[in-house]
Amino acid sequence: MEPWTIEGRTVMITGGNAGIGRATASELVRRGADVTIGVRDRDRGEAAAEAIAREAGRPVDVLEIDLASTASVRAAADRFAAGHPRLDVLILNAGVFYGRHRTTTDGFEATVGINHFGHFLLAGLLFPRLAAAGSARVITVASSAHHRPDAFDVDVLPGWRGRYRGMDAYARSKLANVLFAAELARRAEGTGISSFSLHPGMVSTRIAQDGDTMLVGLLWKLGRFRFLTPAEGAATSVLLATEPEIEDRSGRYFAEGKESRPSRLARDRELAQRLWRRSEEIVGLRFRPGR
Ligand SMILES: NC(=O)c1ccc[n+]([C@@H]2O[C@H](COP(=O)([O-])OP(=O)(O)OC[C@H]3O[C@@H](n4cnc5c(N)ncnc54)[C@H](OP(=O)(O)O)[C@@H]3O)[C@@H](O)[C@H]2O)c1
Repeated sequence: MEPWTIEGRTVMITGGNAGIGRATASELVRRGADVTIGVRDRDRGEAAAEAIAREAGRPVDVLEIDLASTASVRAAADRFAAGHPRLDVLILNAGVFYGRHRTTTDGFEATVGINHFGHFLLAGLLFPRLAAAGSARVITVASSAHHRPDAFDVDVLPGWRGRYRGMDAYARSKLANVLFAAELARRAEGTGISSFSLHPGMVSTRIAQDGDTMLVGLLWKLGRFRFLTPAEGAATSVLLATEPEIEDRSGRYFAEGKESRPSRLARDRELAQRLWRRSEEIVGLRFRPGR
């Protein structure tokens, strides 16, 4: 196998128009990757693509995708696959924190719907393109918030039982991200596809700033002077996309540039398998890497 370099690799990143995703895209373009940013709003996406091209000196493609709609994810995956015979790096980065209960167009609780189910479906649909690359990486942007839950009932998904709390919904979705990345690594063993999850650090972005998360939004604003910049927050995603020899650490969780031990629940293989099967049922896709 040839040594891994990012130059000339095909990269797709969700949430590539803002925050950590935009900074990650910009750095990977600068290092010579052919990057597509997944965006839910065409105008915001075009504006970000122009800014990235100016900063990085090379163009970036834009793919419209709304992770809150399985129909949109399917249509976007088809368009991407039609134009790209292979995909070397898939970065599942987009994320939301909603202070009030919302649902996706499919009726899923929106935080887990966008942060986990949309990404699970996208990765499943693009898996043949990842496999075609021979050696490929899936990088899931999770969060240290995944440490918060002390239980995770996957049978409740994609709904919500009891009083909704934004932090609990967010933490659960991020636990799903870490479980997904670890289970993908196990299932894809021997296929040339590796999988990682990460915590980027506390980063000054627009997350939790949509006005319905008063307390968290306020704390976020107050904390901003100590937070990382988006470029600093992108460093772990960039590291996992570019590091030449990291395949032997497939399945692991990284926090701020270093391998880190995920929570007890995130290390529960049986839970990861149950979440995988439940996710297949919910998004209506048999996602069977390695078979
Ligand atoms: N910031 C932190 O301190 C921190 C800490 C731990 C983990 N993270 C994780 O880092 C990732 C990036 O977050 P960020 O901090 O950079 O936040 P951000 O600035 O709010 O960016 C989030 C991105 O996700 C996109 N997005 C939201 N809903 C979407 C949908 N339905 N379909 C497609 N894209 C959608 C947004 O698009 P629009 O611009 O159209 O809204 C935006 O591009 C998230 O997964 C987050 O959980 C962040």
